[in-house]
Amino acid sequence: MAALAPVRPQTPLPARPVAPAAPVATPRALAGGQIVATGLGRRFEVADGWVDAIRDVDLAVAPGEFCVLVGPSGCGKTTLLRILAGLDRPTSGTLDLAGPAGGPPRNAMVFQGRSVFPWLTVRANVEYGLKLRGVGRRERRAVSDRLLETVGLAGFARTYPHQLSGGMRQRVAIARALAVDPDILLMDEPFGALDEQTRYLLQDELLRIWESTGKTVVFITHSIDEAITLADTIVVMGARPGTVKATIPVPFSRPRGLAQVRSDPASARIFEQVWGLLRDEVRDARAARGPVVLR
Ligand SMILES: Nc1ncnc2c1ncn2[C@@H]1O[C@H](COP(=O)(O)OP(=O)(O)O)[C@@H](O)[C@H]1O
Ligand SMILES: [Mg+2]
Repeated sequence: MAALAPVRPQTPLPARPVAPAAPVATPRALAGGQIVATGLGRRFEVADGWVDAIRDVDLAVAPGEFCVLVGPSGCGKTTLLRILAGLDRPTSGTLDLAGPAGGPPRNAMVFQGRSVFPWLTVRANVEYGLKLRGVGRRERRAVSDRLLETVGLAGFARTYPHQLSGGMRQRVAIARALAVDPDILLMDEPFGALDEQTRYLLQDELLRIWESTGKTVVFITHSIDEAITLADTIVVMGARPGTVKATIPVPFSRPRGLAQVRSDPASARIFEQVWGLLRDEVRDARAARGPVVLR
């Protein structure tokens, strides 16, 4: 049997206080958390060796920033997001997370199409995190009323997820994530399974919510257009192993809408730039028979 490559012990992940970075926009930035990842790696043990899902990832997200990760399938986007959420730990590197007041930030995560509990009503889904935290009934109700209004589901509080369309379910998931008032909102292809028109509506809605709340957002998508519409910064990841290939600022002013972004000639230039970086990566990822296993 081949010798196993050494693996560094998993580093525990207390959110260490970090020096405050320059905020992206003044009043909004007060609500957002900060992320500084340096040399982040995650190595998984598999049957015949090890897989580096991500390696040497450097990522800095300022308070209030909307950061979008794009990259081919299997390049470690979900792995990275799970680490940022505290659901997994890196096997190398350091991760510094800070809330607006300097302490550990509050995170919430939205997954693709599976972020709501089917056995709970829409309202109970939105209030779930608050209930876990022991927030009283009246306060929970006030929060869920406000957020259901925000995401356009005020009339659906008593329905169950199966009675809603996919787009409406994702709006419940977003309301649920926002209910815990997170400093950092982590979204893993939240609109990936939706039809195009619904996606456009939700993108505009998410921008509106983000602009009014000042959350820091890390958002994964396969869609370069979606990245250009939403992001302050697009982080392009490459595969095998997953690492950051480029960080591209998106210059459009805020508040911004889909139509405005589409009609700006700078969109085409950014699209070319991102696609130029991704093309070979996507080709390589498709040609691969499986992950690179280190023995
Ligand atoms: N728990 C795990 N055990 C072994 N390998 C994993 C595990 N999770 C992810 N991987 C591998 O890590 C790589 C990155 O996966 P993932 O983060 O899901 O990529 P993405 O979200 O970009 O599609 C893939 O090669 C995947 O097979
Ligand atoms: Mg993924």
